[in-house]
Amino acid sequence: MKPDIYDIHRYYMGWQEIDGSDSNSMGGKRMRPTLAMLAADAVGGDLERATPIAVALEYVHNFSLIHDDLEDMDRVRHHRPTVWAIWGESAAIVSGNAMLKIADAAAWKLRSVGVEESVALEAESELTNHYLKMMEGQYLDISFETEASVTVDQYLDMIERKTGALIEASIYLGGLVAPRSGPDRNKAKALKSMGYELGRIFQIRDDVLGIWGGEETGKPVGADIKRKKKALPAVHALSTSTGASAERIQDIFRIEGDLDDEDIHVVLEVMESLGTQDYCQSMAEQRWVECERMIESLELSGSTGKEFTEFGEFLLVRES
Ligand code: IPE
Ligand code: IPE
Ligand code: MG
Ligand code: MG
Repeated sequence: MKPDIYDIHRYYMGWQEIDGSDSNSMGGKRMRPTLAMLAADAVGGDLERATPIAVALEYVHNFSLIHDDLEDMDRVRHHRPTVWAIWGESAAIVSGNAMLKIADAAAWKLRSVGVEESVALEAESELTNHYLKMMEGQYLDISFETEASVTVDQYLDMIERKTGALIEASIYLGGLVAPRSGPDRNKAKALKSMGYELGRIFQIRDDVLGIWGGEETGKPVGADIKRKKKALPAVHALSTSTGASAERIQDIFRIEGDLDDEDIHVVLEVMESLGTQDYCQSMAEQRWVECERMIESLELSGSTGKEFTEFGEFLLVRES
């Protein structure tokens, strides 16, 4: 029997197998809803008021992954075949689009948990702004594939949008909608700045895992190089290599289409000689120093400051 569009969603979320039977797959980490709830707690708010936005964020995220798998031509995520790899490109496009509308519909439920109309509208509009930013970043990421090289600043601008925007939105919106007495805008803004920092750290580690990660990532490693992605390791290698190895990798990154195993090997060797992995990891660690200070200065409720700190520390060492 052919799956309906919602079976595809259930599969991708990890609730069902391809044949429709129950699944005990974990899906993703559910990081964005967790952050939204943590932010709700951090402002001393009512967690229930943040639930619709937390759900919406996870659906926006999974929509973005269904399309991202197709855009990056990745056949495996979460240790399972991706939507386009099973049901084809058109199914991935339309089921992804539908999931984004489900995200919007989830956010409309803010009213049913008592969030005032004006706050709900503000949260919905901010959610839309942030996922638009995410799409801008995706577009930049894709267009960088055919650029010979990009600068670190261009890279940072791209990741702030493709990944940072939704992580920022999670912490910001959870904090905005949760207080029963209405939004504390200063606190929500401070949380937003923290989300911005965490988003960058998250993606830098993601780029490290994209090349040097293990089986735990649930995705094939090396795919970023194969597609000539200008993830941080490539940006570093292209901008700091000199002499013959510089020429070699510049030529490789000018090849049309995907790179073969031999070319990937050359790029990896150059990265190894340049200490690219350490460069990337220390960039994440440096950013964490500032972010940790920011968290300490926020005076968050209960143990939430500690939990955000633990989360930040986890981002630096995570393997999946
Ligand atoms: C992966 O995000 C996609 C990016 C934005 C880089 P996550 O690592 O949070 O995805 P899950 O945990 O698999 O859902
Ligand atoms: C995904 O970025 C970002 C979005 C889906 C918005 P990547 O393509 O770098 O992430 P992974 O490595 O596939 O998870
Ligand atoms: Mg991808
Ligand atoms: Mg991508």
